[in-house]
Amino acid sequence: MTPLLDAVTVVGARPNLVKAAALHRQFSRRPGIRHRLLNTGQHYDEALFGGHFPDLDLPRPAWNLGVGSGPHGMQTGRMMEGIEAALLAGPPPDVLIVPGDVNSSLAAALVAAKAGIPVAHVEAGLRSFDRTMPEEVNRRVIDAVAAVHFATEEAGVRNLLAEGVDPGGIHLCGNVHADVLEATRPAWASLDGPAGGGPYGVLTLHRQASADDPAVLAGLLPVLSGFARRFSLRILFPVHPRTLRSLQQGGADGVESCDSLPYLRFIRVLSGASVVFTDSGGVQAEACLLGVPCVTLRESTEHECTVGSGGNRLAGLNPDSILRAGEDALLRGPGSGPPHALWDGRAGERIVDALVGRFAEGREPVRADRGAHA
Ligand code: UD1
Repeated sequence: MTPLLDAVTVVGARPNLVKAAALHRQFSRRPGIRHRLLNTGQHYDEALFGGHFPDLDLPRPAWNLGVGSGPHGMQTGRMMEGIEAALLAGPPPDVLIVPGDVNSSLAAALVAAKAGIPVAHVEAGLRSFDRTMPEEVNRRVIDAVAAVHFATEEAGVRNLLAEGVDPGGIHLCGNVHADVLEATRPAWASLDGPAGGGPYGVLTLHRQASADDPAVLAGLLPVLSGFARRFSLRILFPVHPRTLRSLQQGGADGVESCDSLPYLRFIRVLSGASVVFTDSGGVQAEACLLGVPCVTLRESTEHECTVGSGGNRLAGLNPDSILRAGEDALLRGPGSGPPHALWDGRAGERIVDALVGRFAEGREPVRADRGAHA
C-alpha cells in the first residue's frame, strides 16, 4: 500500500531526538502515514544518543549510517555521501524533515534539495547573528534550501522573511520541546530526585565556544563554585563527552560532575533545580517551560521570547555577569509563565497538519510497493 504521506526525519545528534519524538508521536496517530528515521551516527555514545530512544519512545531508525565524529567538512561530507545513497536507493520520500541546526541536518538538507526532495525545517529562522557558531552557519544554509519552514516564535518568522524566504512556506507552530516535556511528564515526574537531597543548581556546557578551550572551563568552574558556596547549594554538572576533554582534573568545590544523562532523568533533575546555567538552546526552552530560572552562558540566544518572558538571562562568560544573573535568577525566579502561547504541547500536531496539507492533500492511498525500507 502506498502511504498517504511518506516522510523521513533525519537524526544524528542528541537534540534531534527530542524533536523527532514529537513528530513521531503525531505521525503514528494518523493512519496511512509512513514515518521513518534516518540516523547519520553523528553521535554514537550510548549516554549521548542511543540511551534516549526508549525514553522518547522512538522507533529503530530505518537507516544507520555510522558516520561518527570528525572535523566539520569531513563529518558533513561523509554524511552527505551516506544520506544520498540511502535516499536514492528507493523511491524518494515525499518530504525530508530536518530538525534544528546540527551538521546532520545541514548534510541532509543539502542532499535532499539537490535530489529534488522537499526539505521541511523544524526550528526554522532561529538566529544568534553570531557566525562564529557552526550552528548559525548550518541554520542559514538549511533555511535557504528548505521548502517548508516551521518557526518556534515570531522572531523566527521575521528572520526568514528578512532573508527572502517565501512566506507561503512559513508556519508559526511553537516549540516541539514543550510537546515532549508534557507527553513524558508522568514518566519523569515519578523518578526520584538527585541523591543527597537539598537545594541544587544544574550546569550544562557543550558548545564550541565554552567546551573546547580548557581555559574557559577553568575560569568558569571557580565562579560557579563561589556561587554555590554563597547560596548554600550544590551544582550538578552532567558532562557532554566533548566537554570532558577540557575538564581539568579535580573540578571545583560544590560542582559535582557526572556522565551525560538520558532524557527522562535529565528532565527530572532539571525540574527540581533552583537555577540552571547552560549554553544549550534546548535547555533554555525546557527550563523556562518547567519554571526553572535560567542563566545562559552566551552573549546571545536564538529564543528571544525566553528572555522577554523573564525566565532567561544572558550572562555570557564574564564572571561578574554570571554571578549577577545567578543571583537575579534565585531572587526573581522563573518569570511570567510559559515563554510563548504556542509552546503549549501541540507544535508537533501543527507541523504534521501542515505537512499533510501540503504533501498529501487530496491523495488516496493506492496499492503499490514503494520501496525496500517499509
Ligand atoms: C553537536 C551539535 C550541537 C548540539 C550538540 C548536542 C553540530 C555542529 N553541533 O555538537 O549543535 O547542540 O551536538 O550534543 O552539529 N563526541 C563523543 N561522543 C559522541 C559524540 C561526540 O565523544 O557520541 C565528541 C567527539 O570527540 C567529537 C566531539 O564530541 O569530536 C564533538 O561532537 P560533534 O557531534 O561534532 O558536536 P557536538 O559538540 O556534540
